[in-house]
Amino acid sequence: MARIKMVAGNWKMNKTLQEGVALATELKNDVKNPNCAVVIGTPFIHLATVAELLKDSAIKVAAENCADKEKGAYTGEVSAAMVASTGAEYCILGHSERRAYYHEDYAVLAEKVKLALANNLKVIFCIGEVKEEREAGKQNEVVKAQLEGSVFNLTAEEWKNITLAYEPVWAIGTGLTATPEQAQEIHAYIRSLVAEKYDAQVADDTTILYGGSCNEKNAAELFSCPDIDGGLIGGAALVAEKFEAIIAAR
Ligand code: 13P
Repeated sequence: MARIKMVAGNWKMNKTLQEGVALATELKNDVKNPNCAVVIGTPFIHLATVAELLKDSAIKVAAENCADKEKGAYTGEVSAAMVASTGAEYCILGHSERRAYYHEDYAVLAEKVKLALANNLKVIFCIGEVKEEREAGKQNEVVKAQLEGSVFNLTAEEWKNITLAYEPVWAIGTGLTATPEQAQEIHAYIRSLVAEKYDAQVADDTTILYGGSCNEKNAAELFSCPDIDGGLIGGAALVAEKFEAIIAAR
């Protein structure tokens, strides 16, 4: 079984509901027979509408987060069950912005992953080092600790619903893309960690996306690397034309 190739968008905190519906409609009309899985991550408030809109399309919908608690008195939080009830099929977890600005640590992320999987959501789990860590040559250590801290407790069966996204923090929104060589090297390392933890077959079946200033200009070169199975796209996912060009490059 060849592993799934994927282009996923992460809208982050962009687009009003109306703007989001307009973008999703454009994508629905244009993306009919993609060569890869296509997912868009939208704000919670858009999920139900966008999932309904894309129901019979080639595009799947992701939440950008979920709560680390099942339900109850957690004002303002959105549970994995609520996400699933909108028709969304994926949940992005572990994004560096959640780790940095909302202090999501390994244990909280492990809870979120567990709850997302328990509610039949597939998880796009993000890992990646900050600039200082890259400069100190610690990127391998960092991604290993992130995997061990939050997802390597999963069974091989549960792992089937995990997609990894390597996103070097220094490349996110900065225009500084990792070179294909840098990205390939760490993707291969990440795959070797999965092989060590599970086995070679599981590692071979694991989809590993690259994220961080991936755009319509550099996507083809990044995607040509053997261990880069697609992209998790921020800024360029907000413009239909650019996102579609990235899908076409996969
Ligand atoms: P940019 O593509 O805007 O750099 O963002 C990447 C990202 O964080 C996707 O999750």
